Amino acid sequence: MSQSYEVIFENNKRWVESKVSEDPDFFHNLAKTQTPDYLYIGCSDSRATAEELMGAKPGEVFVHRNIANVVNTLDMSSTAVIQYAVEHLKVKHIIVCGHYNCGGVKAAMTPQDLGLLNPWLRNIRDVYRLHQAELDAIHDENQRYDRLVELNVQEQCINVIKMACVQERYILEEYPVVHGWVFDLRTGKIIDLEIDFEKTLKDIQKIYNLTGSDWVMSRKTD
Ligand code: CO
Repeated sequence: MSQSYEVIFENNKRWVESKVSEDPDFFHNLAKTQTPDYLYIGCSDSRATAEELMGAKPGEVFVHRNIANVVNTLDMSSTAVIQYAVEHLKVKHIIVCGHYNCGGVKAAMTPQDLGLLNPWLRNIRDVYRLHQAELDAIHDENQRYDRLVELNVQEQCINVIKMACVQERYILEEYPVVHGWVFDLRTGKIIDLEIDFEKTLKDIQKIYNLTGSDWVMSRKTD
């Protein structure tokens, strides 16, 4: 797998040539602006690429990746990405994509001190605690691991839906819609967990309704 560092520049040169031969204005147009419809929040895992698995081109997907695709309100990086994508890029879809064989999820299932990673993996250990009865009832360790990957995606979707900017934009424009996916490294396929966005939003609004302000309601009737 290992290749020399210089190969990257050779690859880049060939990529530029192929893009320009397909479309001489490719980079001229690319430099102008971005209007992606999708925000993709995925794992940093080198095997779970964003654009390649979606067959997307440059300019089509706004991307945020971190260990085990976590969305935490105290993490300025992911919240800034979501806020920017929703308010400025006006993305239509927010995708949280986990993947089977996720090292971050595996580590969170293992009781051990991982130093600096502890607070990050706490997010996933909390998902385990929320769904402990279901997970502990799964005796096969690999199946339990796969299920935690799915439940982690589900909970991170809920964390996205908890954000005021997402709720407000959805009430005003009926987008963005939040989707939960799992990328199956064993087959290459994307599995849609079919998260019911409307229902999830309604359920969490009992506690996390951040749109009760007159401001949002007055904007809606404009
Ligand atoms: Co991972």
